Amino acid sequence: MVSTHPIGVQHAGSQYLPLRRNTSPNQELLPLTARVNNHGCLEIGGCDITTLVQQFGSPLYILDEETLRLACQQYRDGFKQYYQGESQVLYASKAWNCLAICAIVAAEGLGIDVVSGGELYTALTAGMNPEKIYLHGNNKSRSELTLAIESGATIVVDNWYELKTLVELADSGPIRIMLRLTPGIECHTHEYIRTGHLDSKFGFDPNDLDAVFTFVSQHTSALNCVGLHAHIGSQIFERQPHQDLAAVMVQWLQDAAKYGLNVTELNIGGGLGIRYVESDDPPSIDEWVKAICEVVQTACLEANLPLPKLLCEPGRSLVATACVTAYTIGSVKVVPDIRTYVAVDGGMSDNPRPITYQSQYRAVVANKMSAPLTETVTIAGKHCESGDILIKNAQLPKTEPGDILVVMGTGAYNYSMASNYNRLSRPAAVVVANGEANLFLQRETYQDLIRQDCLPERLKK
Ligand code: LLP
Repeated sequence: MVSTHPIGVQHAGSQYLPLRRNTSPNQELLPLTARVNNHGCLEIGGCDITTLVQQFGSPLYILDEETLRLACQQYRDGFKQYYQGESQVLYASKAWNCLAICAIVAAEGLGIDVVSGGELYTALTAGMNPEKIYLHGNNKSRSELTLAIESGATIVVDNWYELKTLVELADSGPIRIMLRLTPGIECHTHEYIRTGHLDSKFGFDPNDLDAVFTFVSQHTSALNCVGLHAHIGSQIFERQPHQDLAAVMVQWLQDAAKYGLNVTELNIGGGLGIRYVESDDPPSIDEWVKAICEVVQTACLEANLPLPKLLCEPGRSLVATACVTAYTIGSVKVVPDIRTYVAVDGGMSDNPRPITYQSQYRAVVANKMSAPLTETVTIAGKHCESGDILIKNAQLPKTEPGDILVVMGTGAYNYSMASNYNRLSRPAAVVVANGEANLFLQRETYQDLIRQDCLPERLKK
């Protein structure tokens, strides 16, 4: 189907182009600055994708700064608009932790959630204010805990072992902690169930709440418990589970008060989904924030509790849509009457989500944006693994070697879960804005690949 793009370009894939500028990034397939230029090529952030690939190589992650910033602003401003108490949005940096993204989210006033010493170190190096850093993890090492304590980050305590370790480590005053609880709300992508006690490796069992609060209230010289945390899952499209969670957490807040604990922060986790394919229909960031604020405010009012500082920690919905991955098309294999494999120069090493979770993606051909979508093909990666398929049944124009395939929505859990399988180098990443592209992750070289290798003396010739 050929349609006319709003800016007047004949464009076969216009259904992917955002039509409204003030839209919620998580409801779009392409970054918000995506345009088709007069050459029929895709531009993002004012940069022609085919030129970027010539300049920076392939595959290439391309991050649209405007889309990322807008998502940050929508979260931040939503809480300001709908919540009468204090609030803080944290970026769940496991989605993509690197210096540049930490710096952008910090500049937008967000804090950060980190889950390892490495993520913590990166956030600190990027200049994130330690008072806005929260360290998660179900098995933090003593050195990770020590780095968090020394840097002034808040520790989200996950279990008894950690709680007791922190008491041992607290020799220079109380450590700022939150407690992570398992809420008993389990989310799958499109549905959720509530269970009495949930089978999860994360967090304290809510049935242990009395014991945990008692312990914390007996160790106030070591532990300064400022808040409670829970997270129910990821890529969630319904608002109800998060609303239920918020209500449950206000109840916990009331319980904490009975133990004389001055718990003033509630972190309701992350999890808002994004549109990867046309049929995905997540609520907007604004709708999600509004729903949560309303529940917390109503529940606090009913319980006659002062409003807590409200935190949330989205990852995917902040960064996923802002990024696309550009690949170069190479070999094609036609299996008669079955399918056509079109291979690209990356695959499961730069995007492990399809092989890991059977995740679906959409793609366009950056240099053929005005060509009709006449082919149905399978996009294969280049790894020695049959399952290394990025997209099944992709609708594309007729392609040839050298064309640039752009896979959308790759900003979350792609680079952060990338590997060097088959000794492929991890791609470079550029951030684009106003016609300028800046490298923020260098492409790995062959030297990088053997940097950690050691050849024991006796194995040398
Ligand atoms: N907070 C906690 C405690 C989390 O465990 C997570 C994600 C988040 C926040 C952020 O959730 P988000 O807003 O991104 O949904 N690798 C998987 C996703 C794993 C999510 C792990 N936890 C994927 O590629 O789909």
